[in-house]
Amino acid sequence: MKVVSVVGARPQFIKCAPVSRELRKEHEEILVHTGQHYDRSMSGIFFQELEIPTPDYHLGVGSAGHGRQTGAMLAALEDVLLAEAPDLVIVYGDTNSTLAGALAAVKLHVPVAHVEAGLRSFDRSMPEEINRVLTDHMADLLFCPTQTAVDHLLAEGVAGGVHLVGDVMVEALEYNRAIAARRSRILEDLGLAEEGYLVATVHRPANTDSRGRMIAIIEALGESGRPVVFPVHPRTKQVLADYGLSASMPENLIITEPLGYLDMIRLMDGAEKILTDSGGMQKEAYLLGVPCITLRENTEWVETVEDGWNVLAGADKERIADMLRHFNPKHAVRRFFRDDGSSRRIVEIISRGSHP
Ligand code: UD1
Repeated sequence: MKVVSVVGARPQFIKCAPVSRELRKEHEEILVHTGQHYDRSMSGIFFQELEIPTPDYHLGVGSAGHGRQTGAMLAALEDVLLAEAPDLVIVYGDTNSTLAGALAAVKLHVPVAHVEAGLRSFDRSMPEEINRVLTDHMADLLFCPTQTAVDHLLAEGVAGGVHLVGDVMVEALEYNRAIAARRSRILEDLGLAEEGYLVATVHRPANTDSRGRMIAIIEALGESGRPVVFPVHPRTKQVLADYGLSASMPENLIITEPLGYLDMIRLMDGAEKILTDSGGMQKEAYLLGVPCITLRENTEWVETVEDGWNVLAGADKERIADMLRHFNPKHAVRRFFRDDGSSRRIVEIISRGSHP
C-alpha cells in the first residue's frame, strides 16, 4: 500500500515517529512536511532526535493567518496527492496541517486516517477544536487514544471506521524516556536539582492574545519562589515583546528557546510541577507522575483531571498560586493511556484495507 503521511507542526513530529517506523515495515510511506513549523528548534531537532525519515516533500508553507496558511497547504498538498496517487493519507492531531491534509485527500477521493481522533475541548473558539471536528467528519479511519474519544465520535454520529488503538504519544514517551535520561544534560546546563524547579510553557492564542492573561501567568510564576524553566514558543516571544514585558521578566524565570524532545522530557521528568497550556504536555506530565497545573479553562485530556493529577487554573493568578502551594497528588496514576503498541495496532488496521 502507498501511504502519504502529512505532518507540519511540533506535536505531529512526535506522533508520527512511532507510526512511521511501523508503517515502513510493510508499506511505502511518502512523508510530507507542510512547513508550518520551520525553525530548527521547532522542527529539525525533532526529526533528528526521533529518527524520523527525511520528508519526501517539504511544502515550505510557513507562517500566515489561518486561511492563508491552510489554503496554501491545501493547494500544495493537492499537487502531491495527484502526483503520488496514494491509497491512504494519514493525518495527526489538530493543527492546520491536519485539516489541510484531510481536506486535500477527501476532495480527491483518497481515504483518510486520523491519528488522535475524537478529542474534544468543546471550545469552538480554539482553532484546534474546529480542525479536530472537521477532520474527524472527513476521515474513513479514526484512531482514538481513549474510550472518551470514541464516545465523543459516537455522540456526533461518527460510527464507521472508529478504532480504540491507544496513544502514540505514550509510545514515543516510553521509547525515549530512558534515552532522554542518558543523553540530556539539560539539568546540569541550567544548574537545576531534581524536583527543585518548575517547568512552564504558554503558546495557546487564548493566552498569548491577551496581555492581561500573560501578565497574570507571569506574575504567578514570578511569585512561585522556585526557579521556573520557561521555554518560549516563537509566538509567545513575539507577544512578550509587543506587550512590553520581555525586559522586566521575573528573575526566577529561566527563559530558553523552544527545547528539543529529549531535553523537554528530561526536564519534565525532574520537575516538581508543570504549568502549561499544551495538550501533549498535560498527558506527558501525567505519564511521568508530575503534577500539572493547566493554564486553560478546559482540557481534551479529562482523564488526567479525573485522576487528580491535573488541575485547570486558567490564567487566574490566585488560583495558580494556590495550586502551586497546595496541589500535591501522591497516589499512583491510573494509567488511562495505553502504551502497548498503538502504532502496531494502527498499521494492522491499515493493512486490513477494509476502509472504502
Ligand atoms: C500550532 C498548532 C497548535 C499546536 C502548536 C504546537 C494550529 C492552528 N495550531 O500552533 O495546535 O499546539 O502548533 O506548537 O495549527 N513560528 C516561528 N517559527 C516556527 C513556527 C512558528 O517563528 O518554526 C511563529 C510564527 O511567527 C507564527 C507563530 O510562531 O506566526 C505561530 O505558529 P503557527 O504554526 O501558526 O501556530 P502555533 O501557535 O505553533
